Amino acid sequence: MMEYGLIGEKLGHSFSPLLHARFGDYDYVLNEVSKADIDTFFETAPFSGVNVTIPYKELAMEYCTPDDNAKAIGCVNTLVKGASGGKGYITDTYGFEYMLRRAGIEAVGMRAVILGSGGTCRTAAYTLSRLGAKEITIVSRHPADIALNLKCPVKYVSYEDIPEDLEILVNTTPVGMYPQCSDIPLDISNNYVNLRAVIDVIYNPLSTRLVYNAKKRGIAATGGLSMLVAQGYFASKLFTGGRLGNDPVGTLTDEEIAKLEEVIDSIAQTAGNIVLTGMPGSGKSTVAKILAKRLGLEMVDTDELFTEENGITPEDCIRQNGESAFRALEKKAVYLSAQKGGRVIATGGGVVLDPENIEMLSLNGTIVFINRKLSDLATEGRPLSEGNENLKALYYKRLPIYLGNCDLVVDVRNDAKSVAEEIIGSLHNKEDRKMKLLVINGPNLNMLGIREPDIYGRETYEDLMKLCRKKAEEIGVAVDFYQSNHEGDLVDIIQQAYGTYDGIVINPGAYTHTSVAILDALKTVAIPAVEVHISDVDQREEFRQTSYIRSYVVKTITGHGLAGYTEAMEALVRQ
Ligand code: DQA
Repeated sequence: MMEYGLIGEKLGHSFSPLLHARFGDYDYVLNEVSKADIDTFFETAPFSGVNVTIPYKELAMEYCTPDDNAKAIGCVNTLVKGASGGKGYITDTYGFEYMLRRAGIEAVGMRAVILGSGGTCRTAAYTLSRLGAKEITIVSRHPADIALNLKCPVKYVSYEDIPEDLEILVNTTPVGMYPQCSDIPLDISNNYVNLRAVIDVIYNPLSTRLVYNAKKRGIAATGGLSMLVAQGYFASKLFTGGRLGNDPVGTLTDEEIAKLEEVIDSIAQTAGNIVLTGMPGSGKSTVAKILAKRLGLEMVDTDELFTEENGITPEDCIRQNGESAFRALEKKAVYLSAQKGGRVIATGGGVVLDPENIEMLSLNGTIVFINRKLSDLATEGRPLSEGNENLKALYYKRLPIYLGNCDLVVDVRNDAKSVAEEIIGSLHNKEDRKMKLLVINGPNLNMLGIREPDIYGRETYEDLMKLCRKKAEEIGVAVDFYQSNHEGDLVDIIQQAYGTYDGIVINPGAYTHTSVAILDALKTVAIPAVEVHISDVDQREEFRQTSYIRSYVVKTITGHGLAGYTEAMEALVRQ
């Protein structure tokens, strides 16, 4: 007998019991029901509330009174029994909306393209139109199956005819899902110049390659875990007698949001991997063992996996066959280790050298760089770092690569146990622990693209932000922006940066040549700052040759166009 639970044909591993355990005080069970038994189940099973999943979401409509949203979408995922029979809801639509809000994705006025044609495609299309999308294009092989009655125009096209001007892309197909993590449903690397947001409803891996590629381009992107958790939350509200009202997402309280975020965080932690990177001899394996034990996760060492797979240790392989032969085989071991979630993965020291390794590990993992001092690194049995000079050269060559490809940096100050504890403490605040940079622009820089293009180029302020976001993603930092035409505002923002930002990139525009106040503000907060000018100010009018902040900043970059900003970001990271 089940009172609350999930029904579907094949449920496999589901997070739903975990979610509901966190949201409500009721037992929630998984119940696989065959197609032959499903009608009898709906007619006679004495449940109080169920979630319904594939392939029964449409059929469930016949056994309840669906609300307006469920009617419009044509399926039900939450069925609650009451005195007057069953009521049906589709909380997926609120889950989808929560996911968008959380990722800062605005649907109003946007051209959206949805890949796939199942129930989730209908949910996505309906939700986007409800939130004000301008036009929806559904990419499907069977348009007839998904006729939708939406507020905005809907088109159906094939993959060959995806419009070039799309702004939001949603994947509702299973392409890219575990274990086929290297597949992508659409190549977005060099086209679709207007693309602003990518949503993939897949949550295993936590980020698909599609999401990863979008982030690499500086485009807002999200995987589907937050949608899953939020739909579960709204279902649990209904199970426990709550009402959703007209705007369930907009009316969530701060406490409800905090709860949702806590659950998203904790599932991400158990579903994802913790990947330890760092120099050979930095203690990754020891820390990984402790972490795995503390968190109840499986531990995998890519060097050990290498030995198992190839019948030779990495050390012997490098000595016998050379480094590049070793790296090719190592890549396979990395791929194998990253395929499954719920692991602590200790990586070989050089794994980060291959961007494809990093990509594979990032899809489902938080990358933690174990930063141990050069003088403390163990070198025994490590052919590439033997000998003091070799080790030193290796350390300085690799340090920027480790730093640029991690979510967290943990400095080794004490024993392995304290390092593991520090990692556990930091995992919850992955975003917070990234180095934070603030890019400040002064007067008239908001007019880039229009303003004297011969001097400042045709790219806009928007383009500048995009470029910096992309760089931030590449070098593993968080970046925020501020622009004002007013000197006092610039002073204010510099003051507010105190305690929050680790570095400032500043182009004070014309105030460069006049403002003592901006210089004083920078000195006050003492945050490392780099001065940037798009044009080569030193070669222009004499009045532009004075810079009040130049004597103070750690570096000045002039005349490199917008690239000066990204160079400044790199310089701050190196600092
Ligand atoms: C500028 C140069 C300044 O002299 C000018 O007033 C600007 C832009 C630059 O980026 O080249 O506003 O800072």
